Amino acid sequence: MIILKNHSLKKLNTFGIDASARYFAEVSTVNEILEVLSQKAFLNARKLILGGGSNLLFTKNFNGLVLKNNLKGIELVKEDSDFYFIKAGAGEVWHNLVIQCVANNYSGLENLSLIPGNVGASPMQNIGAYGVEIKDCFFELEALNIADKTIHKFSNSDCKFGYRESVFKHEFKNQFIITSVTYRLLKTPVFNISYGAIEKELQQMGITKLTIQAISKAVCSIRSSKLPNPAEIGNAGSFFKNPEVSNEEFLLLKNKFPAIVGYNLENGNVKLAAGWLIEQCGWKGKTIGDAGVHKLQALVLVNYNNAKGIEIYGLSQKIMDSVKEKYDVVLEREVNII
Ligand code: FAD
Ligand code: EPU
Repeated sequence: MIILKNHSLKKLNTFGIDASARYFAEVSTVNEILEVLSQKAFLNARKLILGGGSNLLFTKNFNGLVLKNNLKGIELVKEDSDFYFIKAGAGEVWHNLVIQCVANNYSGLENLSLIPGNVGASPMQNIGAYGVEIKDCFFELEALNIADKTIHKFSNSDCKFGYRESVFKHEFKNQFIITSVTYRLLKTPVFNISYGAIEKELQQMGITKLTIQAISKAVCSIRSSKLPNPAEIGNAGSFFKNPEVSNEEFLLLKNKFPAIVGYNLENGNVKLAAGWLIEQCGWKGKTIGDAGVHKLQALVLVNYNNAKGIEIYGLSQKIMDSVKEKYDVVLEREVNII
């Protein structure tokens, strides 16, 4: 296995930030990971596991070891009367897994079509879109503990999934390398078209018989019309999370700002549309140098050309400050800042 020094990460992060890794290795098997980790030079080095680089922002060069996870393989490992259990290597491209499941009529992932990135990162922030989160069909994962070099299994409850959250962003941050994920997918599909835009899109497509293939197609079409394609404009999807406030806080805000957008949650709180807050603060379409706020989706920060990570970070801070000042709401970054 080759270990590269001062390797450029520009093509390996969807923001297209020109940062570099002090050391860089691509790993395709667990043994290769173990081999790198056992090298003396890396015992105490900082480590970053890289998937598709679609949910991180490099604010400086990474002065440690970047491991590009390339573990492949998609297989049906088990089935019972209701479910298929599909195990995928962490380095598989997420959308390729979705396409394969949709084509085979394994139901559950169709609403998560076209999310960039790799399988290994899907549990990291419990990826979600169009009314579904990965926790809804996650069965278990395997991860290598960097400290004791053994493989651990994590069940759904072990992962402590929440909205864009898991145990791997908190108490186990930087401690595990996820090597595979197993999903539990339905034999008899349950269609989730609770997200209004899907139903509208299906109608426009002239769909009369609901299938997971049609839902996947509708989701791809909505996403392509709304979100910038990282191959054309650097970005990492939603830069901030949608903030949660209590119902009392929401009513006070609604009183002052009647058009404010919020969705009721099961716990009685309300999730605010951060994109609305940011747009109302006047940021939509604004740029500072090459760092900008997308003109169609205020929640997405973009690199129009050669922005530095620190400039995008600075823009995000300005946005957070103005949302706090106008609405007294604190935005939290969704993107991992490196
Ligand atoms: P990376 O960016 O490479 O890594 C993300 C984090 O996970 C890093 O901290 C990294 O160290 C860690 N990590 C990655 N792989 C492993 C591993 N194997 N083991 C341990 N740690 C690991 N997200 C959503 O939830 N919903 C969306 O609808 C959505 N839409 C998006 C649209 C666009 C246009 C873009 C650019 C991004 C979008 N995202 C969305 C964010 C992103 O696609 C997801 O978070 C995705 O899961 C990131 O995968 P990745 O492989 O690129 O992770
Ligand atoms: N809105 C505005 N102005 C904007 C953008 C949005 O007013 O510029 C308001 C609109 O009222 C809109 C509402 O915000 O109805 C919600 O917008 P949208 O449906 O586009 O969803 P979102 O909240 O911006 C979230 C996720 C996305 C996910 C979509 C679809 C978060 C942080 N983002 O976006 O996930 O794809 O819903 O489910 O939860 C990601 O995490 O990277 C991501 C793209």
